Amino acid sequence: MSVLVDNIGELFTAGPDGILTDAALVADGDTIAWIGPAAQAPAADHRLDAAGRAVIPGFVDSHAHLVFAGDRTAEFAARMSGEPYTGGGIRTTVAATRAAPDVELFATTARLTAEMLRQGTTTWEIKSGYGLTVADELRSLRIAGEFTDETTFLGAHTLPSGADPDAYVALVCGDMLDACAPHAKWIDVFCERGAFDADQARQVLTAGAKAGLGLRVHANQLSEGPGVALAVELGAASADHCTHLSWNDIEALADGDTVATLLPGVEFSTRSPYPPARRLIGAGASIALATDCNPGSSYTSSMAFCIALAVREMGMTPAEAVTAATAGGAKALRRTDIGALMPGTRADLVVLDAPSHAHLAYRPGVPLIKAVMRAGAVRTE
Ligand code: NIG
Ligand code: FE
Repeated sequence: MSVLVDNIGELFTAGPDGILTDAALVADGDTIAWIGPAAQAPAADHRLDAAGRAVIPGFVDSHAHLVFAGDRTAEFAARMSGEPYTGGGIRTTVAATRAAPDVELFATTARLTAEMLRQGTTTWEIKSGYGLTVADELRSLRIAGEFTDETTFLGAHTLPSGADPDAYVALVCGDMLDACAPHAKWIDVFCERGAFDADQARQVLTAGAKAGLGLRVHANQLSEGPGVALAVELGAASADHCTHLSWNDIEALADGDTVATLLPGVEFSTRSPYPPARRLIGAGASIALATDCNPGSSYTSSMAFCIALAVREMGMTPAEAVTAATAGGAKALRRTDIGALMPGTRADLVVLDAPSHAHLAYRPGVPLIKAVMRAGAVRTE
């Protein structure tokens, strides 16, 4: 089955074609088959009339923690009154997640992925990390795998209460990794004071790479530290957060192959300063935007909200922010088949209820998703 999308006001490809006007697009099955001048559009089985609206790629949310139970509203409220975010609340969610039946965790993950799709996200990564036992991490990854191929083992999210640090790192690198690796594409570690230091993070990442997993790092979220340098040194696909960066970190990201994934929902929700996006862009680093959707530091599933924050608070242009939320996320997942509109990529796109991609920041908080196509299947509001 093929679909012609025409009458497009602005086609924001996030790819080599840049922004096109008077363009049309044909999806054949789950793939984009053709992009070109509207006047030359080939026939198709169905037509999606964009009515002068903007069309952008589906968002790629490359960082999310969706398998959890419980609620941390009180912690959020305390932060808004001035309490700092320390990451200590992770253990609250671990306790609630361990106590929850499979069906509850499955339902929460289903609810959040549906929420994402409704808001124009067509690819999402999902991490474990609220189980922290072999059985609970495995359970989280099994559930995550029902919703995405982009599954990430985050056994090294924090030290479980009462655990011995060396023994826990050995467990993560040993039995837990053995059980989880078959269900994960990636391994991640929270490298931070109060979580895992550089040596421990290196052990976890090295063991994960040996097991065939790609690398990601929660790096430099709460303070300058070794996370970014380690991520670049080990060839991680992404260093996530990048809130507190030294010039050396920025240069390493610019010279290396690691994407800086910025998560401004976290800065919003923790009242932290925002990451230095302009300095990263100026140095030539690759940038992605993602939600970090989780019940503690950033309980939003809205990529549009992250784009608005990136523009308003981080000085990114709307085009830079939308590109980071699409092509940037794809790069952070080392994917070339998603994130940009061009022949051969997966037919994942969003028709905005707006004439330009810039409205995602210009009209913050307004639901601007008119239609979403995911792998060629259309859902309209
Ligand atoms: O990406 N920083 C570590 N992990 C999550 C927060 C998890 C939580 O607070 O529950 C993050 O911000
Ligand atoms: Fe995270």
